[in-house]
Amino acid sequence: MSRILNGIVAVCPDLGIGSNGNLPWHPVRLANEFKHFRRMTATPSVKDKQNVVIMGRRTWFSIPEKNRPLNNRINIVLSRALKAPPAGAHHLAPDFNSALKLVDVELADQVDQVWVIGGSSLYKDLMESPGTKRLFVTQILKQFECDTFLPEIRPDRYRLLPEFPGVPPELQKENGIQYRFEVYESIEQ
Ligand SMILES: NC(=O)c1ccc[n+]([C@@H]2O[C@H](COP(=O)([O-])OP(=O)(O)OC[C@H]3O[C@@H](n4cnc5c(N)ncnc54)[C@H](OP(=O)(O)O)[C@@H]3O)[C@@H](O)[C@H]2O)c1
Repeated sequence: MSRILNGIVAVCPDLGIGSNGNLPWHPVRLANEFKHFRRMTATPSVKDKQNVVIMGRRTWFSIPEKNRPLNNRINIVLSRALKAPPAGAHHLAPDFNSALKLVDVELADQVDQVWVIGGSSLYKDLMESPGTKRLFVTQILKQFECDTFLPEIRPDRYRLLPEFPGVPPELQKENGIQYRFEVYESIEQ
């Protein structure tokens, strides 16, 4: 079965997504942006199923311990080095394809949507995966210093959707930081 793969990311103008293991705007909190992340990733469209979040080891450990695992979601962590899921995580996978196989075979009956939530190499794996992909991008309209980056969203491979259900189209502002929610969908090649 081929399912849509979703990615979600908040990104600075230079495509920066992280700094020192944190979000670039840390310690500033963008509470409504975080609510958007939670609403999108934690809301299945089918009753009695859960969404899956797939993340790299560093993204897992960037989540405050009290918030791990991300609730109401099946948490899969990718690592080549770990031999067992880190405490609190539901599953460990040695690479992206193994994570997708886990979802489509072992967890098939329980899973609705699949969400890739970072970091860099997972977004790259997602963008280059076959099939339909959607990228939920929060464009942060202020530059912060970053050491981790999102791969380019190639305009020949992804188109910006004019609107998307449940995604506010208007400019947002929190703690003096403006941002905008965008949704991109892969173009059939
Ligand atoms: N702005 C946002 O929306 C957003 C979202 C997520 C994360 N972030 C930020 O991004 C930073 C973390 O991202 P990151 O890119 O540095 O790290 P990451 O992708 O979260 O984690 C990297 C680690 O994950 C494992 N991994 C990654 N790809 C793998 C693969 N294909 N197969 C197997 N294992 C794989 C490896 O773990 P091992 O070394 O254990 O093998 C690798 O060292 C933090 O600053 C975080 O706050 C921001």
